[in-house]
Amino acid sequence: MRPEFVQITSELEKHDAWFRDVLSQKTTLPTEMESWSVTRDVAEKLYELALKYTPKHIVEVGTSLGYSTIWLAEASREYGGFVDTLENEASKILKAQETFDRLGYKNVQIHFGDAIEILKNWSSPVDFVFLDARKREYVRQVQLLEPYLTKNASIIADDVTEWRRKLDEFFAYLGSGNYTYEILELGHGLLVAQKVEKVR
Ligand SMILES: C[S@@+](CC[C@H](N)C(=O)[O-])C[C@H]1O[C@@H](n2cnc3c(N)ncnc32)[C@H](O)[C@@H]1O
Repeated sequence: MRPEFVQITSELEKHDAWFRDVLSQKTTLPTEMESWSVTRDVAEKLYELALKYTPKHIVEVGTSLGYSTIWLAEASREYGGFVDTLENEASKILKAQETFDRLGYKNVQIHFGDAIEILKNWSSPVDFVFLDARKREYVRQVQLLEPYLTKNASIIADDVTEWRRKLDEFFAYLGSGNYTYEILELGHGLLVAQKVEKVR
């Protein structure tokens, strides 16, 4: 790992720990100070999966301060991949962009706005999707990307065990025969799905 990557992941992890500690004391915080990053084990798995499948085009829904994004971007810069990441809070985008600039990424683009609205206008191929925003919207987000998913595309979704009750439609969609999936006991449950190639 590059020293600057180690430094910045450590800074973001400290911020996340501080944020959770403050919230546990029931203090309210301005929204731009929220982080809700993926856990370190999930971040490392994202990095590992990106290096394993070498997706050229990654779409992440839910940038926040960019913690998960930098693991995807760090892996994909090694083989020439690109990360499009979607976030609807401007203050978070500013912080995330600052982080991406510090790491010198040329392979990350932030899209500002509501994910559903952005995905309604999507028009380019996608090899790897990471879902980490509103749980009830996971299914709609995948449906909107479906026409652009390449053969054997990966769908990764965070928090599926913790928020299982909000994900009935998402699991029904994945169970329709077009995907295989497993749930890893990482973070709050990390779903790793693969699009199945149909035999005609
Ligand atoms: C759990 S956080 C993402 C954490 C990030 N993936 C990480 O690990 O650092 C979810 C983010 O999704 C954003 N979000 C929620 N609903 C959204 C929507 N409809 N469109 C775009 N972003 C949304 C929130 O503002 C929040 O920053």
